Amino acid sequence: MRRTFVVSDVEDMLLRKTLLMAAALIVAASGGIAFAEDAIDPAAVKSEDGKYLDKEGNPTFKVAADGTVDWYTYSGYRRYHSECHVCHGPDGMGSTYAPALTDSLKSMSYGAFLEVVASGRKNVNTAQENVMPAFGDNPNVSCYMDDIYVYLRARANNAVGRVRPAKKEDKPDAYTQAEKSCMGK
Ligand code: HEC
Repeated sequence: MRRTFVVSDVEDMLLRKTLLMAAALIVAASGGIAFAEDAIDPAAVKSEDGKYLDKEGNPTFKVAADGTVDWYTYSGYRRYHSECHVCHGPDGMGSTYAPALTDSLKSMSYGAFLEVVASGRKNVNTAQENVMPAFGDNPNVSCYMDDIYVYLRARANNAVGRVRPAKKEDKPDAYTQAEKSCMGK
C-alpha cells in the first residue's frame, strides 16, 4: 500500500514537471517570436544616401533579386574580415574562442551591438577568460560600425551567403564624405 502510494506520487511529480516544462517552452517560443517581430524585423523601409533603414530607423541590409547588395553590406564584409574574423571566424561563423555573430545578431539589438564593440566584454558568453577587445578608439572599426553591423545582420538573416558579395551598389557620395571626416583625412 505504502509502496503504491510512493510510485504514484513520483508519477504525479513527473507529470507536473512535464507540463511545467511544456508551458515554459511555449512561453519561451512565443516570447521569442514576438521579440523577433517587434525588435529585429530586418526589412528595409527606406534609404538615406545609400544606407537602408528598418522601421525602427536602425541600419539594415538590402539585397536585390539579382544578388546586388547595398554598399554597407559589401563594405562590412571587408571590414569584418580585416578586424573581427581572426576571433569570430570566417563569415561570422564563430570559433572555439569567440561566439558566432551570425547567431548573436539574430536577437542582439543595434544598440547592444555598438556597446559591446565599442567597450569590449569578457566572460558573458564564453566560459573561459576570452576577451572581446574594446574597439571604440580604433577608427578602422569605429568609423565602420554600421557597415559591420549591416553585414552581420544580413548574414544572421541568411540574406547573404558565405562568400564575398559579387555585385554591389555604388559607394554613396555622402558615405565617402563621412568616411573621410571620421578617419581624419
Ligand atoms: C581578440 C579576439 C576578438 C576580436 C578581434 C573580436 N572579438 Fe568580438 N568577442 C570576442 C570574445 C571572446 C567574445 C565573447 C565575450 C564574452 O565572453 O561575452 C566576443 C563577443 C562579441 C560580441 C557579443 C556576442 C554575443 O553573442 O553576445 C559581439 C557583437 C562582437 N564580439 C563583435 C565583434 C566585432 C564586430 C569585431 C570586429 C570589429 C570583434 N568582435 C572582434 C573576441 C573578439
